[in-house]
Amino acid sequence: MTKIVSNKRFIQALTDYPVDRPPFWFMRQAGRYLPEYRQIRSKVGDFLELCYTPEAAAEVTLQPIRRYGMDAAILFADILLIPDALGQKLEYREGEGPVLDPIRDGAAVAALTLDKIDDRLAPVYETVERVAGALPEETALIGFAGSPWTVATYMVEGHATKEFQEPRLWALRDPQGFSALIDVLTEATIHYLGRQIEAGAHAVQLFDSWAGVLSDDQFSRWCTGPTRTIVGRLKRRFPDVPVIGFPRGAGVKTADYAAATGVDCVGLDTSMPPRWAARSLQGTVAVQGNLDPLAVVAGGRAMEGQAREILKALSYGPFVFNLGHGIVPQTPPEHVAALSDLLRNWQGE
Ligand code: CP3
Repeated sequence: MTKIVSNKRFIQALTDYPVDRPPFWFMRQAGRYLPEYRQIRSKVGDFLELCYTPEAAAEVTLQPIRRYGMDAAILFADILLIPDALGQKLEYREGEGPVLDPIRDGAAVAALTLDKIDDRLAPVYETVERVAGALPEETALIGFAGSPWTVATYMVEGHATKEFQEPRLWALRDPQGFSALIDVLTEATIHYLGRQIEAGAHAVQLFDSWAGVLSDDQFSRWCTGPTRTIVGRLKRRFPDVPVIGFPRGAGVKTADYAAATGVDCVGLDTSMPPRWAARSLQGTVAVQGNLDPLAVVAGGRAMEGQAREILKALSYGPFVFNLGHGIVPQTPPEHVAALSDLLRNWQGE
């Protein structure tokens, strides 16, 4: 049987097919650095409302594609829609970020329910359908979810923190109790990503933004383990849909994570040396990353020099160019344009 090759450069790069140049997209490519995003955001008002309004969410997903022609769009939503859909109260406060009613014990975990997630998340699936129908033929659509560990940190802490003491202590003192929370999140994530794929997502990414705060054994248990379950179950149903894992801050543990989870591509944060990734990862998985988001704020030579070094190290193996974390709100849009031009015209060096 001949293999059908995707006409999308982003998918080609993730399915072991030679590409003319590395595909690129940027985490948080839709958002506050774009005036057209701020306009829609102020019209809709609430951030959560924006995520649940398909027409507006589809529009902000497409905005960066129209401006810069990235090889992939990423669904506009948030990793905390899963706790919201499971019944945990969530709001986004201006200048403060997400605030949730913290979950600290088994009774609170037992009160979460998987029964109603599709009712709450139906607008997100509609956004996926709308975007998939509106994108240029050559552009891929990436669906996403947070990884169970990272989503759990917000659910347990109740807000953004730097140390994550509450979830880390719960996991250490009562691994069985904490595991009940991780198990609900694992099931919800498999279901949610499956629905996104059915609605038209061509690939999915799991954001494990806080993987880096865990010790080696805790990382295996709460990051690698659940990710392996999610990837395995998705691959059984959708063998050809690439899965990207982004274990931010995992450092040298990234190699084990890539091998043990079965992801097709591993996201590299800003701190990872590209030449190490070329030697240690690209023989077995594709990699994605990892320009410093602040280099895009700085622009000019700082940005272009760093981007070229990454391209020189990684574009001879399976590779998707991205940032090492999300675009920050103070990024000048014209720097994103200059970076996109450099990447579109890259012919090797
Ligand atoms: O363009 C895209 O990347 C797609 C949309 C997207 C958002 N959040 C929109 C968003 C994606 C993929 C995310 C993922 C996400 N959300 C992560 C993982 C990636 C990472 O940054 O580490 C995390 C940890 C969250 C949780 C979250 N959402 C926080 C802590 C906050 C508040 C901080 C902030 O940046 O404002 C959000 C809000 C959020 N999610 C915004 C956007 C565009 C800003 C909302 C606004 O318009 O005010």
